[in-house]
Amino acid sequence: MTGELSPIDKAKFVAAKKAAEYVEDGMRVGLGTGSTAAWLVRCLGEMVRDEGLRIKGVPTSTRTAELAREVGIEVISLDSAKWLDLTIDGADEFDGNMNLIKGGGGALLQEKIVATASDQMVVIADIGKEVETLGAFPLPVEVIPFGWQTTQALIEETLVSMDVLGRTSTLRMNGQSPFVTDEGNHILDLHLNRIGDARQLSMVLNQMPGVVENGLFVDICDVVVIGYGDGRVEVR
Ligand code: 5RP
Repeated sequence: MTGELSPIDKAKFVAAKKAAEYVEDGMRVGLGTGSTAAWLVRCLGEMVRDEGLRIKGVPTSTRTAELAREVGIEVISLDSAKWLDLTIDGADEFDGNMNLIKGGGGALLQEKIVATASDQMVVIADIGKEVETLGAFPLPVEVIPFGWQTTQALIEETLVSMDVLGRTSTLRMNGQSPFVTDEGNHILDLHLNRIGDARQLSMVLNQMPGVVENGLFVDICDVVVIGYGDGRVEVR
């Protein structure tokens, strides 16, 4: 499955492989989105095939659903699972309090719903994702297409009174067209550089009309499994 991996892929793979140890027979598991989460899905697929692991997977995006089916994981909807034992997902940044920025892959809405519906959230990441303070990675905010420029202006105005360094935002594009999420929404990437109070910012953003959800995961993650390019892995 792995062949000759670059250090970054090796780091992602070893984190995913370690996190797969949290998955037990009979569990309902939230399956994250992104390149690190894809390693996890492949690892679980191998366990299903070679070890007879029986799990039900709730994917957080259409592309994860496709991969999960491809590798032989039974896929069910969140509504039929109702509650999950565990979610394993990647992150764009994590800090010392296990708060996260997610949504680089555009799946933050389903990812947050699924993680929140889980007894435990395990994040898998290469060491390059660790930060002292969140915000160097642009914060993704999912907004409805109707009046998105008005929503953008409102967000930028509100940022003036928030503990952040930068205040600009850009509409995420897919080639010449706006990026469209699985829910049919757009993403604004907020260039904040430093987020002083992630909890407050998250609450303020989610109160704005037009904002569906933001990529700050505060007090949701329980464990971070960190992979290194030399194959070491660390659990926090
Ligand atoms: C997708 C996400 C991903 O988990 C995040 O972008 C990390 O991706 P990768 O593992 O490819 O670095 O939040 O919406």
